[in-house]
Amino acid sequence: MKKYLVIGNPIEHSLSPKLHNYWLNKNKIDGNYNKKLLTEEKIGEFIKLDQKISGINVTVPFKKTVVNYCTELTELASSSKSVNTIILANNKIVGDNTDIYGFEQSLKDLNFNGLNKTAFILGAGGVVSSIVIALNNLGVKNIVISNRTKNKAEALAKEYNLVVLDWGKVIDFDIVINCTSIGLKSNDNLGLDFSNIKNKIFYDIIYKPKTKFLINAESLGNQIIDGKMMFLYQAQKSFEIWHGIKPEINKEVINLLND
Ligand code: ATR
Repeated sequence: MKKYLVIGNPIEHSLSPKLHNYWLNKNKIDGNYNKKLLTEEKIGEFIKLDQKISGINVTVPFKKTVVNYCTELTELASSSKSVNTIILANNKIVGDNTDIYGFEQSLKDLNFNGLNKTAFILGAGGVVSSIVIALNNLGVKNIVISNRTKNKAEALAKEYNLVVLDWGKVIDFDIVINCTSIGLKSNDNLGLDFSNIKNKIFYDIIYKPKTKFLINAESLGNQIIDGKMMFLYQAQKSFEIWHGIKPEINKEVINLLND
């Protein structure tokens, strides 16, 4: 039986095992998928070849760290310097990135066209480089980034040609994406004033719970998107990479995330 797992910290609430095990079952693949809590210091000794694991998903906060432990990177992992999918086979540890696909596909579903659009990114954590590359792929040229710790936004801005805005300020945009962890706890508040903004797209990569950021935006008449479809699409792509089968995303699968 082939073994797969997701590593992160925290990891308790990850829905990846539920989703991947459902698909493994549906597709009659002899494998199982678990989760493992790791600390930064243990990553090096965990990601190695001489163990019986065929694939690893990587979540917060290790997507950047694991790049150093791969023996090869795909083009997407290399351009984003972010790995969320590892393939262990043929004496190689290959780091790949399916977050880019996940985010891009979720917006393609909504017929989003990035031409002449301005995107406003909140946060500068491990997933932001993937969001930027996906936005570029969708035709968005003008990207503004704001982060509490400004130098992290500046580093990303330099690498990916973004504009930095001081944390706390808001600009005119077509789509805003919350990539911070604010909203994971139900009384979290970003503290940004979006009260004059209507008819725009508000995207939160958090998919549970529904964040104040999205609740408020919706009440002002904006279009809202949570991170559910991005999560499903990145998982679908990882599954396809490991097993050569594109698993189905249907109502039953979406419901797995709602239970
Ligand atoms: P990592 O940086 O390890 O990848 P992450 O969870 O992906 O972690 O990113 C957390 C993001 O949420 C960061 O942009 C963080 O801002 P800092 O870079 O200043 O830490 C942001 N964040 C978390 N709590 C915040 C808060 N209370 N106010 C503003 N930003 C916050």
